[in-house]
Amino acid sequence: MNGGCKVCVTGGSGYIGSWLIKKLLAKGHTVHATLRDLKNESKVELLKKLPQSEDKLVLFEADIYNPKDFHPAIQGCQFVFHVATPLIHQPSASSSSQYEDTVEASIEGYRSIALSCLRSGTVKRLIYTASVVAASPLKQDGSGFKDQIDETCWTPLNHSCEYLYLEPFYKDYTYSKTLTEKHALSHGNDENGGGLEVVTLACGLVGGDTLQSFTPSSGAVFIAQIMQNEKAYTSLKFLQELLGKIPLVHIDDVCEAHIFCMESTSISGRFLCASSYISLQEMANLYALHYPEFNVKQEYEDGLKKDIKWASTKLCDRGFVYRYDAKMILDDCIKCARRMGDL
Ligand SMILES: NC(=O)c1ccc[n+]([C@@H]2O[C@H](COP(=O)([O-])OP(=O)(O)OC[C@H]3O[C@@H](n4cnc5c(N)ncnc54)[C@H](OP(=O)(O)O)[C@@H]3O)[C@@H](O)[C@H]2O)c1
Repeated sequence: MNGGCKVCVTGGSGYIGSWLIKKLLAKGHTVHATLRDLKNESKVELLKKLPQSEDKLVLFEADIYNPKDFHPAIQGCQFVFHVATPLIHQPSASSSSQYEDTVEASIEGYRSIALSCLRSGTVKRLIYTASVVAASPLKQDGSGFKDQIDETCWTPLNHSCEYLYLEPFYKDYTYSKTLTEKHALSHGNDENGGGLEVVTLACGLVGGDTLQSFTPSSGAVFIAQIMQNEKAYTSLKFLQELLGKIPLVHIDDVCEAHIFCMESTSISGRFLCASSYISLQEMANLYALHYPEFNVKQEYEDGLKKDIKWASTKLCDRGFVYRYDAKMILDDCIKCARRMGDL
């Protein structure tokens, strides 16, 4: 598979989508990328200036609230990376969509994309960018945490985690990522699956550099402890409350993992994707040790009481190797924030 494949990436101008496209083009693949608005010059330019884009990149306009939009982009492709996700409930003016919220939009968007894959007759595998927010080790009965976190963990969508209900966004995002991933896995291999292989990659908090001209929102969460950014810091606390500690992964490893799933001869099912699993306190300690120039927020919210083990090995068992540990991810987040003028 040295180049020569035709692949579709939804959410092509986002943080993960754009980095993934850069890597796919560098490997010689032809990429059909979808964006919500082809008139948005900064998003289009971001992709058009990538090496090989002139010959190998085709842009399509597609909105999850009009999921049939994705159909032309998927035609003729062998692999589809469904990276886009509706973060805010925002049916476009032209949309006739009746979706109630981002949860319904996300599930219906996935369903329609999977159908387009099946009908194309060419798509072999659909790779969905899932999130660890769907893989909490909280017990379903609300009696605390399990001893370890791995692919068998599913976030209990009840009141086991009070933090989930603190902000509507946390609840909506967690429900949308959890229910969409469950839908993807339950329909991937049944009679409607029609031979389509479905992979879900539940990624940890993604950090590192970016192709975008601003610090991505997950990058801002990484540096919340040194930016004294309350909103982003609350997101870090939310992740720790939900997941016991915080799974971290570098943007380059995330995209390599997506490509690894594409290049495997046959692969399906759920994979957690994170190279480190550390508490707020351990993160603050790393900053304090390596970046003494910053005033690190010292508020630990009980992190170390939860001694949960990271027990996901599925991706590495298949041969995937992470190249970035926690310190390297934080270093690249700091470099990126400095380059953007945020630090
Ligand atoms: N960053 C993380 O820490 C992290 C961790 C785990 C999982 N993930 C997952 O990774 C994926 C990408 O996230 P990201 O960090 O790259 O975020 P991002 O930069 O905000 O990208 C989100 C993408 O979704 C697209 N999108 C939003 N609403 C849409 C709609 N209604 N229709 C079509 N596309 C829509 C956006 O498209 P436009 O640019 O055209 O508006 C954008 O490309 C998401 O599925 C997210 O859940 C991210």
